Amino acid sequence: MRRLLALARPSGGRLLLAVLFGVLALGSGVGLMATSAWLISRAAQHPPVLTLMVAIVAVRAFGIGRGVFRYAERLTGHDATFRILADLRARVYERLVPRSGLHGGDLLARLVADVDAVQDLYLRALLPGAVAAVVGGASVGLAWALLPSAGVVLLAALLVAGVLAPWLSAVLARRSERRGTELRGEMTTHVVDSLQGAPELVVYGAAPARLAEAARLDQAYTRTAARSATTAGAGAALSTLAGGLAVWGGLAVGVPAVRSGRLDGVLLAVVVLLPLATFEVVAGLPLAAQYLERVRRSASRVFAVLDRDEPVREPLAPAALPSAPYVLRVRDLRARWTPDGPYALDGVSLDLRPGRRCAVVGASGSGKTTLATVLLRLLEPAGGMVSLNGVDVRSLSGDDVRRVVGSCGQDAHLFDTTIGANLRLARPSATEEEIHDALRRARLLSWVSALPEGLDTRVGEHGARVSGGQRQRIALARTLLADFPILLLDEPTEHLDVATADELTADLLSATEGRTTLLVTHRLTGLEAVDEIIVLSRGRVADRGTHAELLARLGPYRSMWELERRYDPLRVSD
Ligand SMILES: Nc1ncnc2c1ncn2[C@@H]1O[C@H](COP(=O)(O)OP(=O)(O)O)[C@@H](O)[C@H]1O
Ligand SMILES: [Mg+2]
Repeated sequence: MRRLLALARPSGGRLLLAVLFGVLALGSGVGLMATSAWLISRAAQHPPVLTLMVAIVAVRAFGIGRGVFRYAERLTGHDATFRILADLRARVYERLVPRSGLHGGDLLARLVADVDAVQDLYLRALLPGAVAAVVGGASVGLAWALLPSAGVVLLAALLVAGVLAPWLSAVLARRSERRGTELRGEMTTHVVDSLQGAPELVVYGAAPARLAEAARLDQAYTRTAARSATTAGAGAALSTLAGGLAVWGGLAVGVPAVRSGRLDGVLLAVVVLLPLATFEVVAGLPLAAQYLERVRRSASRVFAVLDRDEPVREPLAPAALPSAPYVLRVRDLRARWTPDGPYALDGVSLDLRPGRRCAVVGASGSGKTTLATVLLRLLEPAGGMVSLNGVDVRSLSGDDVRRVVGSCGQDAHLFDTTIGANLRLARPSATEEEIHDALRRARLLSWVSALPEGLDTRVGEHGARVSGGQRQRIALARTLLADFPILLLDEPTEHLDVATADELTADLLSATEGRTTLLVTHRLTGLEAVDEIIVLSRGRVADRGTHAELLARLGPYRSMWELERRYDPLRVSD
């Protein structure tokens, strides 16, 4: 809670303004009730109408003021809250974006909901609480001035409705809120997961069981929500009861006071009706206490994300980016995904001089993607060094590094728009000429030209309307268009069948000729074309050399090569 309050500091002025407008709005409500009560009683005595003029004007002013001030309070309160939320969202996304490998709509959807829930602290708990304290205090003061015992009655009733009822609500809410938050999270995860896996569920006939599980979660959530609503209802009931008792209490102390002459009869209506207006002030507080509990849970999850170790430490004062041509040098690089986990990379060295092409091969899990991730500055090295033209990349800003080192990953994302728009993402200013050139080098030009809508063909969600090979080629064309000085290709042929994969490898090797390239792959076909091949095994360099050199040795590369040939459906085995 303290941290949430600290977040609000930059918008503190606006929040105070909202409290002020809230006080004026509810104060007008109380004023309206008090003056009209006096006006009705006094008018019953048929005094000269002029003596009522001030009260009549005041009733009008309070009536209009209540609406106007309420509007101003909503406006400033929401404005302040949305500013705080915008700031919080930016921080959360900053933390999430560098996390490659952050999967699933589940976590994201939950975080979005959690950040949104935080707004209730400011709008539904802090603001009403502050306003209630000020207006409630002033009302008690007013009642006290008219008749001290009426002040005491009002104070007691306000304490019951404004402190005791919310406290009870909070205590009762704690359990159901915890369960509710958990269930809400589970349900989101379940629904997102089921929708994404719908084809598999249908194929395996697992949909009914999955739906039944969803129904079970929904029932449990409904029960919790009902319990939570009961709590809110009980709080509201207690608060209303206290309000009603305050009115009766006002009568009980007011009538004897009028009889004994301590209170002007005309003011009796004020003493009795004042509590009615004042209770509008505290009526929302039990609910506010319940929101407070919800906010506490959401905030703890949001801060858990914010407090995670940064995957990459950005330098406070980044060094200037050296100018082209670029030499990328990796020395004894070690890296791991968790602070005390095993090393996914353990002592890897390589040099990428301008125009040179290197391939990194190795079994699944040998650390190829980890290497690419470190080179893209999305994962901090745990040892050794990566340098660009002799400058340690740790002293450069990550965005600068990624301006030089660009990648086309194994799951390159296509946006649900046209082929042209997906390409222009890499370079919005690209001319028709340049786009055609990139398409030609990715061997897509004849296909795209033959499409009835050409570049304006839509690719569908995640590229669903094009084939896997076309999807990867579009991603490759996009990477080529971006024209990074150093190109990182991480298994661009990953999800393709062998024939298509080898074809694409051949095409991309010819497309990258003369460009500094690091090609990560598990297929060896076509690697005659690269200058050096590094064989990774469990994060270590098991062997290195050209295709011919490696084949000549009885090493891991040779076994991989023989395996690939033996099980290759395209080759006749010998
Ligand atoms: N995002 C990640 N979080 C935690 N561990 C990871 C992550 N990515 C990879 N690893 C681990 O690092 C090791 C190397 O994986 P990876 O670099 O993806 O291998 P490759 O790309 O060669 O298949 C594996 O043991 C894997 O479990
Ligand atoms: Mg990989």
